[in-house]
Amino acid sequence: MINLIIDGKNVTAKKDTAVLEAARAAGINIPTLCAHESVSRSGACRLCVVEIKKGNRTRIVTSCLYNVEEGLIVDTKSERVAKCPPPGDGIVAGALPRIRSPTKTGQRAWC
Ligand code: FES
Repeated sequence: MINLIIDGKNVTAKKDTAVLEAARAAGINIPTLCAHESVSRSGACRLCVVEIKKGNRTRIVTSCLYNVEEGLIVDTKSERVAKCPPPGDGIVAGALPRIRSPTKTGQRAWC
Protein backbone atom coordinates (compact mmCIF):
# COMPACT_ATOMS: atom_id res chain seq x y z
CA MET A 1 0.00 0.00 0.00
CA ILE A 2 1.08 3.54 -0.78
CA ASN A 3 0.80 6.36 1.79
CA LEU A 4 0.29 9.91 0.62
CA ILE A 5 -1.32 13.14 1.77
CA ILE A 6 -4.18 14.76 -0.12
CA ASP A 7 -5.39 18.17 1.07
CA GLY A 8 -3.76 17.51 4.43
CA LYS A 9 -5.47 14.15 4.88
CA ASN A 10 -3.47 10.93 5.24
CA VAL A 11 -4.55 8.59 2.47
CA THR A 12 -3.61 4.99 1.70
CA ALA A 13 -4.05 3.55 -1.78
CA LYS A 14 -3.01 0.51 -3.76
CA LYS A 15 -0.01 0.77 -6.06
CA ASP A 16 -0.91 1.92 -9.61
CA THR A 17 -3.99 3.80 -8.38
CA ALA A 18 -4.54 7.22 -9.94
CA VAL A 19 -4.48 10.16 -7.54
CA LEU A 20 -8.06 10.85 -8.64
CA GLU A 21 -9.30 7.48 -7.40
CA ALA A 22 -7.29 7.76 -4.17
CA ALA A 23 -8.84 11.16 -3.52
CA ARG A 24 -12.34 9.92 -4.26
CA ALA A 25 -11.87 6.94 -1.94
CA ALA A 26 -10.87 9.40 0.78
CA GLY A 27 -13.96 11.52 0.19
CA ILE A 28 -12.07 14.31 -1.57
CA ASN A 29 -13.79 15.60 -4.68
CA ILE A 30 -11.78 16.50 -7.77
CA PRO A 31 -13.82 17.72 -10.73
CA THR A 32 -13.48 15.70 -13.94
CA LEU A 33 -14.79 15.76 -17.46
CA CYS A 34 -12.96 13.35 -19.74
CA ALA A 35 -12.19 10.67 -17.12
CA HIS A 36 -15.02 8.25 -17.70
CA GLU A 37 -14.98 4.50 -17.19
CA SER A 38 -16.18 3.85 -20.73
CA VAL A 39 -13.27 5.60 -22.46
CA SER A 40 -9.52 5.38 -22.11
CA ARG A 41 -7.99 8.31 -20.30
CA SER A 42 -6.11 10.89 -22.32
CA GLY A 43 -5.74 13.82 -19.95
CA ALA A 44 -7.43 16.02 -22.52
CA CYS A 45 -9.68 18.28 -20.44
CA ARG A 46 -7.24 19.00 -17.60
CA LEU A 47 -10.18 19.75 -15.33
CA CYS A 48 -8.74 17.37 -12.72
CA VAL A 49 -5.38 19.09 -12.29
CA VAL A 50 -3.80 19.06 -8.85
CA GLU A 51 -0.51 20.29 -7.48
CA ILE A 52 1.86 17.61 -6.24
CA LYS A 53 4.94 17.96 -4.10
CA LYS A 54 7.79 15.45 -4.12
CA GLY A 55 10.76 16.53 -2.05
CA ASN A 56 11.36 20.21 -2.76
CA ARG A 57 9.73 20.13 -6.16
CA THR A 58 6.12 20.93 -7.03
CA ARG A 59 4.29 20.23 -10.28
CA ILE A 60 0.84 20.48 -11.76
CA VAL A 61 -0.41 17.10 -12.99
CA THR A 62 -3.68 15.58 -14.14
CA SER A 63 -4.93 13.50 -11.23
CA CYS A 64 -6.73 11.05 -13.50
CA LEU A 65 -3.45 9.98 -15.09
CA TYR A 66 -0.89 10.46 -12.32
CA ASN A 67 -0.47 7.47 -10.04
CA VAL A 68 0.02 7.61 -6.29
CA GLU A 69 3.55 7.54 -4.94
CA GLU A 70 4.86 6.97 -1.44
CA GLY A 71 5.11 10.26 0.47
CA LEU A 72 3.45 12.30 -2.27
CA ILE A 73 1.75 15.49 -1.09
CA VAL A 74 -1.25 16.52 -3.17
CA ASP A 75 -3.06 19.85 -3.05
CA THR A 76 -6.32 19.97 -4.99
CA LYS A 77 -7.05 23.63 -4.24
CA SER A 78 -3.70 25.40 -4.38
CA GLU A 79 -3.20 28.85 -5.94
CA ARG A 80 -1.48 27.24 -8.91
CA VAL A 81 -4.43 24.89 -9.41
CA ALA A 82 -6.84 27.82 -9.20
CA LYS A 83 -4.86 29.66 -11.90
CA CYS A 84 -5.04 26.77 -14.33
CA PRO A 85 -7.17 27.61 -17.35
CA PRO A 86 -10.81 26.70 -16.81
CA PRO A 87 -12.65 24.48 -19.27
CA GLY A 88 -13.95 26.35 -22.27
CA ASP A 89 -10.81 28.29 -23.10
CA GLY A 90 -9.79 25.94 -25.84
CA ILE A 91 -8.27 23.08 -23.91
CA VAL A 92 -11.60 21.34 -23.58
CA ALA A 93 -12.28 22.09 -27.21
CA GLY A 94 -9.85 19.38 -28.16
CA ALA A 95 -11.37 16.94 -25.73
CA LEU A 96 -14.97 17.26 -26.81
CA PRO A 97 -15.14 18.70 -30.31
CA ARG A 98 -18.64 17.41 -31.00
CA ILE A 99 -20.34 19.66 -28.43
CA ARG A 100 -18.89 22.90 -29.78
CA SER A 101 -21.26 25.23 -31.55
CA PRO A 102 -20.77 28.60 -33.19
CA THR A 103 -22.01 31.73 -31.42
CA LYS A 104 -23.54 34.81 -33.01
CA THR A 105 -20.11 36.42 -33.17
CA GLY A 106 -18.65 33.46 -34.99
CA GLN A 107 -16.58 32.39 -32.02
CA ARG A 108 -17.01 28.95 -30.60
CA ALA A 109 -18.66 28.45 -27.23
CA TRP A 110 -19.76 25.52 -25.13
CA CYS A 111 -23.31 24.24 -25.04
S1 FES B 1 -10.58 14.38 -16.09
FE1 FES B 1 -9.94 15.21 -17.97
S2 FES B 1 -7.79 15.26 -17.77
FE2 FES B 1 -8.42 14.29 -15.96
